[in-house]
Amino acid sequence: MDDLRTKYLDAIAGAGDESALEDLRLQAVGKKGEVALKMRELGKMTPEERQVMGPKLNALKDEINSALAAKKSALADAALDERLRTEWLDVTLPSRPVRQGSVHPVSQVTEEVTTIFADMGFAVAEGPQVEDDWYNFDALNIPAEHPTRTEMDTFYMHRAEGDVRPPHVLRTHTSPVQIRAMLEQGAPIRVIAPGRVYRADYDQTHTPMFHQIEGLAIDRDISMANLKWCLEEFCRAFFEVDKVELRFRASHFPFTEPSAEVDLRCSWQDGTLKVGEGDDWMEILGSGMVHPHVLRSGGIDPDQWQGFAFGIGIDRLAMLKYGIPDLRAFFDSDLRWLRHYGFSALDMPSLAGGLSR
Ligand code: PHE
Repeated sequence: MDDLRTKYLDAIAGAGDESALEDLRLQAVGKKGEVALKMRELGKMTPEERQVMGPKLNALKDEINSALAAKKSALADAALDERLRTEWLDVTLPSRPVRQGSVHPVSQVTEEVTTIFADMGFAVAEGPQVEDDWYNFDALNIPAEHPTRTEMDTFYMHRAEGDVRPPHVLRTHTSPVQIRAMLEQGAPIRVIAPGRVYRADYDQTHTPMFHQIEGLAIDRDISMANLKWCLEEFCRAFFEVDKVELRFRASHFPFTEPSAEVDLRCSWQDGTLKVGEGDDWMEILGSGMVHPHVLRSGGIDPDQWQGFAFGIGIDRLAMLKYGIPDLRAFFDSDLRWLRHYGFSALDMPSLAGGLSR
């Protein structure tokens, strides 16, 4: 009995947590525990022995039970003390001012443009920024010797010496997403693809990384007229004016035929831009009817389907709409600039609620 007492009282004193305590309780005073086994032996004893041993065993059982209860509450107290120690908080400290973050103009404009085209039934598509040169060039009807490859000042990814696989590039435009979307979804298709693009260029209106949004609409009988309507509608919504005037200027892109660059009628008065009036024209995007070769690269039969594509510079749009003069400042992470030009994170652009406020 004394051995049992020391064994369990020591073990209870040393128990580290509640589950260890529960194990001990079962082992000692549970239905099949050691004390219960001892109690069963009472039956084999003489009445005199039983009179001595019975109360002793009961006393031992009580003693173990109260040791268990005491230890349990000690463990709970220790746990609470530990929580109080680690979750300590000085509520008398003065509060610190909360610096509110803001939404970058590029994110804001991406959101605005996406919202407008989503309303016209365009879904968002994506592609990688490190792109296979097939998607960035070949599939878009830009063969290896084509001058566009150098005109675009392409960044090539490093290749180990002797590696003969086709190179990867930092995509120079969002047009490769046209191919990926066509291969994934087939025709008919209506997607826009916003994202980062890269060219080795740096001055007031060029940074080596900038943003474009690609548009692609393929169906049985889509024409330049549909393109024109979409873009006019887009400009009206984006610049939040009733009247816009676009000028389609014949141009050349290997992936569209015919191709057009699109200018927006505007005026500059005292350094502020007004859209829809005046005598100036501002180039805002490149566009055209998707070249049959490009449709074929995308697994689409050009005898059955046709459509338009366009590529808009997002940063350019942000500069125009919000009167931001220098593109390079977009990517300087200067907090003063971000606070000045940033947007509230709580005002998400919506067509019903207003794009910008
Ligand atoms: N990818 C072209 C560029 O970056 C823009 C463009 C896209 C032109 C789609 C026509 C059609 O300049």
